[in-house]
Amino acid sequence: MTTLDENTEQLKSNLDLIGREDINDIEAVLNFVGKYDVEGFHRVPDNCPAEFTWDYEKGAKPQLDKLYEKAKKAQWNGQTDLDWSIEVDQERVVIANAEANPAQAQWDEAALAGTVLEKWDDKRFIQFGIENQNWLLSQFMHGEQGALLCTAKIVETVPWIDAKYYAATQVMDEARHVEVFSKYLDEKLSGHYPMNAHLGLLLDDIVSDSRWDMTYLGMQIMVEGLALAAFGFIHMMTTEPLLKKLLRYVMADEARHVAFGVLSLQEYYNELSAAELRERQEFAFEAAIRMKDRMVMQEVWERMEVPTADVMKIMQSAPERDDFQILLFSKIVPNLRKLGLLDAADGWLRTKFTEMGAIAFEHLTDSTEDEDAFADGSPADRQVA
Ligand SMILES: [Fe+2]
Ligand SMILES: [Fe+2]
Repeated sequence: MTTLDENTEQLKSNLDLIGREDINDIEAVLNFVGKYDVEGFHRVPDNCPAEFTWDYEKGAKPQLDKLYEKAKKAQWNGQTDLDWSIEVDQERVVIANAEANPAQAQWDEAALAGTVLEKWDDKRFIQFGIENQNWLLSQFMHGEQGALLCTAKIVETVPWIDAKYYAATQVMDEARHVEVFSKYLDEKLSGHYPMNAHLGLLLDDIVSDSRWDMTYLGMQIMVEGLALAAFGFIHMMTTEPLLKKLLRYVMADEARHVAFGVLSLQEYYNELSAAELRERQEFAFEAAIRMKDRMVMQEVWERMEVPTADVMKIMQSAPERDDFQILLFSKIVPNLRKLGLLDAADGWLRTKFTEMGAIAFEHLTDSTEDEDAFADGSPADRQVA
């Protein structure tokens, strides 16, 4: 195990890293509200130098080369490979999903007591479910645009030609993902939400970091690792056939993206000092908390006019909700372990994920062994359903 030089060790507190001492302080999460970009765009300084390489030897990084060759065959077309003629009745989907997943749909009556939800009728609960769909798909779409920008940045900044080649295929994948989520929102759902404040903060941090590996760590390992688990979960729960297929196709691409992150960083992180690894650990922890905070989905509560105090009461008395949030880290933790980040620098990150209750996932299969990542042919050709 690497040990930190005593002179360089500075233990940062939760307050330093995430702006609050208690990671479960829901009031602090709800109070952090994003700014609307009234001009219709959002600019972030990109501080990392673009790097040319004169070493054009293809296959110098064999695993990345293999992934690039697979990715070329795995392209699909969001316009023609999905059946956009399927009609989506959001109200019916909310009801059918609740019937198919009773455990997830059940509200704890004791938790609702004394809140405005106590007086809600079925119609209002269905509206909440519809807003939930609009919000979730909007955040997927914004996250995909984050991935598009980050991967374009990796093409510029990563030093190796094999990684530049692979990243270029991922840029295409992410364009397709933004396209299909945006089309689904516009044609099948009933409204957009702006970028969630916590997700926005994280994406800004990733884009503006000056170290090329931080783009990978933030995007491929953390954001896409969580997205892969979330897509898998929604894919399993939803009864809506178009969304089910769309998610399955996107997941096949995301498996490759996360594998790309692990394969690229593995070797590089072996060479870093304990102090440098500690910075990566802190970045990973901060990213994990931002993504956990996003799941409070404060914008939905706000639109449904539920006061903060009521949201807190409901959240705090819904432990199964917490279990679901933790499940979303099931892809991230084994990959951080594979990269050596859990145990580097005195095992600081292991302690943090233990506090979060997510350490149990560490021995699950990591993404370098994900079958989807190395599959030949596009999901359409493979008839992935
Ligand atoms: Fe994506
Ligand atoms: Fe991706």
